[in-house]
Amino acid sequence: MTQEESRLKEFGKIKLYYESALKQLQTELNLINDEFSTLSEIQPIDHIKTRIKSFSSLYEKMNRKNIDFTIENTFLLCDIVGARIVCDFVDDIYSVINKIKSKSSLKIIEEKDYIKNPKRSGYRGYHIIVQIPVVINEIKRDINCEIQIRSTAMDFWASSEHKLNYKSTCMSDKDKKELKKLADDIWKMDQIMNKLSIKRKQSNLLESKQATDINLLSRLFTKNMENKVY
Ligand code: GTP
Ligand code: MG
Repeated sequence: MTQEESRLKEFGKIKLYYESALKQLQTELNLINDEFSTLSEIQPIDHIKTRIKSFSSLYEKMNRKNIDFTIENTFLLCDIVGARIVCDFVDDIYSVINKIKSKSSLKIIEEKDYIKNPKRSGYRGYHIIVQIPVVINEIKRDINCEIQIRSTAMDFWASSEHKLNYKSTCMSDKDKKELKKLADDIWKMDQIMNKLSIKRKQSNLLESKQATDINLLSRLFTKNMENKVY
């Protein structure tokens, strides 16, 4: 076996760690979604996407960061395993973050709030790095996984901007400014949508309180009638 072949074989083995971490992460995030659906009034998650970084983009990233392309060094990266959670409203993002923080199975090692502190590009999103333990052939590794949480609007902007500009060196300053302005406009829209969603939740609450009051009145009324009969 050539050196290159044995290196590829090693990388095949190491992929098992990342695939196993991805499965655990998917399970945890799906459970969070199920918890909201069955136990809560709010449904904050629109959808969840997960992925393992492709071999070529892993190679490109390690090159860019001047890290030797070895198996051990892949464990230094935080985003080989990644999940993106997309929410309708900004407040929903923070409900999801709180839920993630309540899970002892997800050990948080880093948080970046690019919603309160957006990047120069205009990018907004909340990033959490969690560590998931994986044991293979009796060897335990803590695998870093990146969870990005964004609103639908932020996700639309980031996906388009990623294709047009992220890490590209050829976009003019004028075009970058235009993209940044779009991000700021989207943020304004997100804030209005969020305000409307709070109002909606409050009126829902009022409606359900009224329904409870009517229920209570009707029960009292029935009880009164019963008292009269006896
Ligand atoms: P990377 O080298 O890309 O991993 O950046 P980093 O390690 O400094 O981490 P950071 O938290 O800044 O970004 C992680 C990920 O967030 C990126 O891989 C993108 O998916 C997303 N991201 C961060 N900044 C931008 C941005 O300006 N535009 C877009 N479209 N996505 C961004
Ligand atoms: Mg990163």
